Amino acid sequence: MITASEKQIPLLDLQAQHKQIRDEVLAQIVRVVDSQKFILGEEVQKLEAEIASYCQAKYAVGCASGSDALFLALMALDIRPGDEVLTTPYTFFATAGAISRMGAVPVFVDVEEHTFNLDVSRVAEILTRRPKVRAIIPVHLFGGCADMDPVCTIAQEHDCPVIEDAAQSIGSEYKGRRAGSIGQVGCFSFFPSKNLGGYGDGGMLTTNDAPLAERMAALRVHGRTGKYFHQWIGINSRLDALQAAVLRVKFRHLDSWTAGRQTNADRYRSQLAKLSVPVAPARPTEYQTRHVYNQFVIRCSHRDELQAYLKKQGIGSEVYYPLPLHLQPCFSELGYKKGDFPVSERLAAESLALPVHGDVAAEDIDYICNSIRSFYASRSA
Ligand SMILES: Cc1ncc(COP(=O)(O)O)c(C=O)c1O
Repeated sequence: MITASEKQIPLLDLQAQHKQIRDEVLAQIVRVVDSQKFILGEEVQKLEAEIASYCQAKYAVGCASGSDALFLALMALDIRPGDEVLTTPYTFFATAGAISRMGAVPVFVDVEEHTFNLDVSRVAEILTRRPKVRAIIPVHLFGGCADMDPVCTIAQEHDCPVIEDAAQSIGSEYKGRRAGSIGQVGCFSFFPSKNLGGYGDGGMLTTNDAPLAERMAALRVHGRTGKYFHQWIGINSRLDALQAAVLRVKFRHLDSWTAGRQTNADRYRSQLAKLSVPVAPARPTEYQTRHVYNQFVIRCSHRDELQAYLKKQGIGSEVYYPLPLHLQPCFSELGYKKGDFPVSERLAAESLALPVHGDVAAEDIDYICNSIRSFYASRSA
């Protein structure tokens, strides 16, 4: 019998992952340090080529973070102050933060209950009503793609580019097409908790459009198109060679780590289905042909009490996201209020991410599911 104090299952275990690749990574770090070539360069170009091919995109452009990737995409697509950009309020702050940083205005659309992603059925009406919307950012949340075909069709009708926020979803597929290859631009994050996470910050843009790729590559180096020649006003958002070298090592393991996540997600679903608990486990829809489970999220009643109980059992969990963006103080000027996006608000109150990374063993999943069962059993007793 395992006691609560013995078992520790963190939501994310970067130490365990690092142990598997420590020698490989350190050798690459030493190589880059010895080269004394730290910014962009060959190492970054190699990573860009690998990521472009992996994401089924023609071009990839490395940058300093996923947040900057979104910002650079908006800059490259010529989004201007006062323009509106449509996205969801149920995402990490950076999605809307990038829009505001541009001087543009985030226009929120609620998400679907079962995918946590943009509710496409609401998009056409908003685009018709708000002619200042100049771009759409669907978010591929938690590792599953948004319903991209209708998004792209409506966007095309309104001449709006589509920027995929694929920060959490590298390798995810929509009807067999990889995240980041479907809209005009894909934005990725290499934040350490991502499925492909660096040893620090990093990000990448993908596109199939050559002039756009060139523009994004220039914008990340102050809009430079030649030595001390600046075609545009850009920013400093360079990916460094050390991060690229680490990411190239980790990239070789990405598919097997993703397979571990998928196996664990399947086990959660089958185990939770056997228990009669008020929990709805995440499940990909038919168009999400490859879900990569950056997070495995359940919806549950008495969420905060369950989380505290799991913590006592040594089980890490996290609430993504407790306050939807339309209710964040920094966006109060946008004029949204509680009740405007009921699905996002409900998910914010009910969602809980459980450990799903490849270092979680099958017996750990069983332990977590049993703990969930004990929690609800103790409440009904
Ligand atoms: C959906 C989403 N968008 C954007 C970002 C921003 O990425 P970064 O942290 O690399 O700036 C993140 C990262 O957490 C994210 O989850």
